[in-house]
Amino acid sequence: MRGRFITFEGLDGSGKSTHLKRVAAWLEARGVATCVTHEPGGTAMGEAIRGLFLNHRWEQADGRVEALLVFASRRQHLIERIEPALDAGITVLCDRFTDSTRAYQGHGRDLPLAWIDQLDQLATGGRVPDMTLLFDLPSDVARARGHSPHRIASKEVDRLDAEGLAFYQRVREGYLAIAEAAPDRLRVIDSSGEKEATWRQVEAVFEKLFPGGAPSSAVASAAVAEPGETDGSR
Ligand code: TMP
Repeated sequence: MRGRFITFEGLDGSGKSTHLKRVAAWLEARGVATCVTHEPGGTAMGEAIRGLFLNHRWEQADGRVEALLVFASRRQHLIERIEPALDAGITVLCDRFTDSTRAYQGHGRDLPLAWIDQLDQLATGGRVPDMTLLFDLPSDVARARGHSPHRIASKEVDRLDAEGLAFYQRVREGYLAIAEAAPDRLRVIDSSGEKEATWRQVEAVFEKLFPGGAPSSAVASAAVAEPGETDGSR
């Protein structure tokens, strides 16, 4: 039985990465083998692209360059990591995927969504996750919470951080439009409150998705470590 492909989306500071880790532990405790990964990145080549993408030195890069970079990373990620894990019956928990490109480059940078769809066809054949959790909160609250722990830990200087509140407001509205257009795939999680209140909503989603724990073929597989991630900072 193939694994499930589940993505976590939201603004920087939405808490998605913290909850993704907790979901991985929750699933492992129920015998579900998981692969925890992220974008841009997830492979050695993807991490190199991530470095280019986030580095403030390339501040002249526009929305098109950004989209080309993230889709190059995504194609390699799918080929090298995501599809092989799913084929092996492992559930993949991915921190960001193509909805991020629609929200950030499409809505945030004003790149036509039709162009993003074309790139998506080229890079992924229009690969859609089985389920997506969207961590939603007002953009000013997300900005006040700041960076995700892994970005602080890796000391990445972030080009996107230079963006003002109006950019993040467009990104949030973009995410909500995506959720409205695909209600069967996206579950909107209100992450504006306390961490535990957010977790209860997340847990409810996974209790429905994995009511009986692991499909037997997935139990024996080991969790898959992320390349270049040996210090546990993500
Ligand atoms: P994160 O790994 O902490 O979420 O940071 C990645 C940053 O890259 C975040 O600001 C969102 C941005 N991003 C895009 O703009 N487009 C994309 O397609 C992806 C995957 C990320």
